[in-house]
Amino acid sequence: MDAILVRGNGALHGDIPIAGAKNACLTLMPATLLSEEPLTLTNAPRLSDIRTMGLLLESLGAEVSEMQDGKVLALSSHDITNHRAEYDIVRKMRASILVLGPMLARAGHAVVSLPGGCAIGARPVDLHLRALEAMGAELDLKEGYVHAKAPGGLKGGAFEFPFVSVGATENALMAATLAKGTTVLQNAAREPEIVDLAQCLRRMGAQIEGEGSSTITIQGVDRLHGATHPVVPDRIELGTYMLAPAICGGAVTCLGGRMDLVRAFVDKLEEAGINVEETSAGLRVSRGNERVKALDVTTEPFPGFPTDLQAQIMALMCTADGVSVLEEKIFENRFMHAPELMRMGAQIDVQGGTATVTGVEGLKGAPVMATDLRASVSLILAALAAEGETLVNRVYHLDRGYERVEEKLGNVGAQIERVQV
Ligand code: EPZ
Repeated sequence: MDAILVRGNGALHGDIPIAGAKNACLTLMPATLLSEEPLTLTNAPRLSDIRTMGLLLESLGAEVSEMQDGKVLALSSHDITNHRAEYDIVRKMRASILVLGPMLARAGHAVVSLPGGCAIGARPVDLHLRALEAMGAELDLKEGYVHAKAPGGLKGGAFEFPFVSVGATENALMAATLAKGTTVLQNAAREPEIVDLAQCLRRMGAQIEGEGSSTITIQGVDRLHGATHPVVPDRIELGTYMLAPAICGGAVTCLGGRMDLVRAFVDKLEEAGINVEETSAGLRVSRGNERVKALDVTTEPFPGFPTDLQAQIMALMCTADGVSVLEEKIFENRFMHAPELMRMGAQIDVQGGTATVTGVEGLKGAPVMATDLRASVSLILAALAAEGETLVNRVYHLDRGYERVEEKLGNVGAQIERVQV
């Protein structure tokens, strides 16, 4: 099995290129099911989750080819030959539920396995289903599968999400593009990935207004056509690499990084005493020799502080001057990195959704275990600044969301390598 070995070694200097967003790409790919014409995605990230979505789409009859070493994805769903998304693929990745809305909208029927819970929480899909019902879908849950049909096609409807859900907004948005009439989604998610999806759908001929605000209005059209769309930069990969010089010292420019994608996160870095500068190349992060200040952080839907950067900022708090308080408001079980960070000498007390981190002078390397994607990378960040060697096990989680992490960090001076254990 692969593991990552890190030797803590001081300041980092140089450039890190930021890839296209995993979570945008995972919703843009199923959009191919809405049209019989090809969809080409450029700036795609090269990740195992993207390959899993490719396999799922292929199982439904789509053609998926990678070009330019995986940076360009050519997708074509001329015919949907199979309308059943099997448990075997869906269970590997929750984003699989995103094929439901497009398949139902185009074909009038779909059967999709329920994804089930995952390490970070129960994560139900009830809001996805309720939004589709508001568009006239008839749904039946049988033996772990959602059986969906819309015999005369989906119809525009109004739906107010009781709380913000990124995936449910994406599913409803895609479905509504081919529904008859107007759909209004209220309390919709405002994440950059939603804006990116709306832009792609508009390139395909959809009529959408209001993406990026909490009300999205979609006027259904009879058909969508082919398009080429560049995937938005990955704001979570960006925030993760911005934390590397924040934790270790030095100066790193995250190439292609944009301030509008990470504003709330940058506010917290600045509060901790880290310098962030937007340049024509991207975001430049630097830190002097002084110790970072403790922070209070609460995760929220965009434009608030993202849950997907919670584990990583905890790594920064571990050596901050003072007591930091981290509140996780999106997922109920997203502190599994805390006990692993404690193996490296961190002082963390977790009570329900709140973690209190008392900063220590320095961390020490230790063997640790990755429990999910963002937890894995937080351990790597902590290891970069720790004294001695850290072996991060179970890095298959990491490969779901970070391409060539050891190369990107190695290029700015980190001592990091992939090893077999
Ligand atoms: C997306 O998950 C991301 N995944 C997650 O990224 C991210 O953490 C999350 O949004 C929040 O920003 C993808 O885009 C593929 P939600 P999603 O629906 O859409 C509850 C990563 O590390 N909920 O916004 O599944 C849910 O349990 C990951 O890259 C319901 O109760 O998240 C959670 O508590 C992990 N019923 C909250 O809402 C529903 O029908 C928000 O989840 C849907 C969600």
